[in-house]
Amino acid sequence: MTPSIPFDHRTVSRRAMLALMGTGAAATVLASCGIGGSGSTTAKKGSIGGTSGTALAAPPELRSSGGLLEVVLTAAATMVPWGDGERYALTFNGTVPGPTLRVRPGDLLRVTLKNDLDETTNLHTHGLHVSPDGNSDNVSLMIEPGRALTYEYQLPANHPSGTFWYHPHHHGYVASQVFGGLAGVIIVDDAIDDLPEMQSTTERILVLSDPRIGTTADVLVASTADKQQGREGDVVLVSGALEPRIAAVSGSVERWRIVNASSSRYYRLSVDAPNMYLIGSDQGRLRSPQQVTDILLTPGQRAEVLVPLPNAGTVTLSTTAVDRGSMSMGGGMGGMGGMGRSRSSSNTDTRTTLLTVDVSRSSNTVAPVLPPILRGTMPASGGATDSRRSISFGAMSMGTGEFVIDGKSFDEHRIDTSAKLGTTEEWTITNNSMMDHPFHLHVWPFQVLSRSNGAAPDPGWRDTVNIPTGQSVTILVPFEDYSGTTVYHCHILDHEDLGMMATINVS
Ligand code: C2O
Ligand code: CU
Ligand code: CU
Repeated sequence: MTPSIPFDHRTVSRRAMLALMGTGAAATVLASCGIGGSGSTTAKKGSIGGTSGTALAAPPELRSSGGLLEVVLTAAATMVPWGDGERYALTFNGTVPGPTLRVRPGDLLRVTLKNDLDETTNLHTHGLHVSPDGNSDNVSLMIEPGRALTYEYQLPANHPSGTFWYHPHHHGYVASQVFGGLAGVIIVDDAIDDLPEMQSTTERILVLSDPRIGTTADVLVASTADKQQGREGDVVLVSGALEPRIAAVSGSVERWRIVNASSSRYYRLSVDAPNMYLIGSDQGRLRSPQQVTDILLTPGQRAEVLVPLPNAGTVTLSTTAVDRGSMSMGGGMGGMGGMGRSRSSSNTDTRTTLLTVDVSRSSNTVAPVLPPILRGTMPASGGATDSRRSISFGAMSMGTGEFVIDGKSFDEHRIDTSAKLGTTEEWTITNNSMMDHPFHLHVWPFQVLSRSNGAAPDPGWRDTVNIPTGQSVTILVPFEDYSGTTVYHCHILDHEDLGMMATINVS
């Protein structure tokens, strides 16, 4: 049970709060005037026919009321706008990303998923602390083409606020369906999000995806070598747009909820503003804002950041390529039919712009104040460990091309790990393979305790953590609130589809 920690008003002065409210209100008005105006004048032709520089659009939003959010999502192949033409994508309700679902702790989220694809699909609520049983977050459910299924997710009253997401999870099809565009954001807001200093920031949803561009379903086809490496697309999109722009005013604070919804691509994000503060990770708010220069975001991970804007000019969010290793034998010799092709994952200083903020001067020059963010970082148990286990993550069984956990390929009929409800376990996950793999556990969030290379543990709670090649990471998992059977896996989704997934039963 996560202790709910009351917001501490003493850490921010009344005057500072009011100042922030003032700048925030001004920012909201001016920013909304700017959309479409400056955006269209800077739009230009980009790579593979896409148009860069259009105004960042928020995905459509569906919000709960009276404790309930009831939505229908239709998964279908769709032609979506691309430059002067269209590109082939898989969408929820016609858009990439799909609608944002905004709920509160204690809400019931009821989602009817209609499958208009020509293959089986289903739904997973990545990061939500809800039951894995029945028609809740149960990834063993299947929806055949032409059928529909209604899921019901009952959020506990103490569910953390933060940025979560939904995507299909039918084993063997996950990478191509997510790569095609089937993903959307779930936001859980609580009382702290209602406070003036949070409300006065300008919230944006930045979903990072990297599709292959084309007009047919061929964009979803990947070679064995691409799957083993983890497929990467032709371009990086931010909420479906190529290098979009935002219009904002000086003195305002941008609040970005960033989701890595790519099948395989890692991002190392930075901004050229004077400061960037990490205020939340996978499982919501940190104990306090952390000033950061860059953020590594593996597939599946989320980051929530505050970026106070400078007086004028532009601020860009960019990424550098991340070397996540290669499964090729002999370091890129390409002995296995092009497997050694290094694609775009090689370590370079090449910076790719993802997003540009055009800052115009505001007459209001009050310096922004960061909201204090408070959340407990230990479980109610105090973090005492009841048992320890080791997981070997990412060793490919030689010759078969299978990706395994503890030497075994995924079998839904086998229980790989059994844990006792109400206990807290320490897991040491070791990666002896030649690539990094992001480890992801459903339902029960964890904390990173230590890393074998001595690097500082991640702040806050996570549900996905990178296990770098040749290293191990130790995490603390309280198995609280829910029993049932679900999975842990590599969030390079091609690896998951190739078998790098295991089952866990908690009872
Ligand atoms: Cu986002 Cu089991 O995955
Ligand atoms: Cu998940
Ligand atoms: Cu992997």
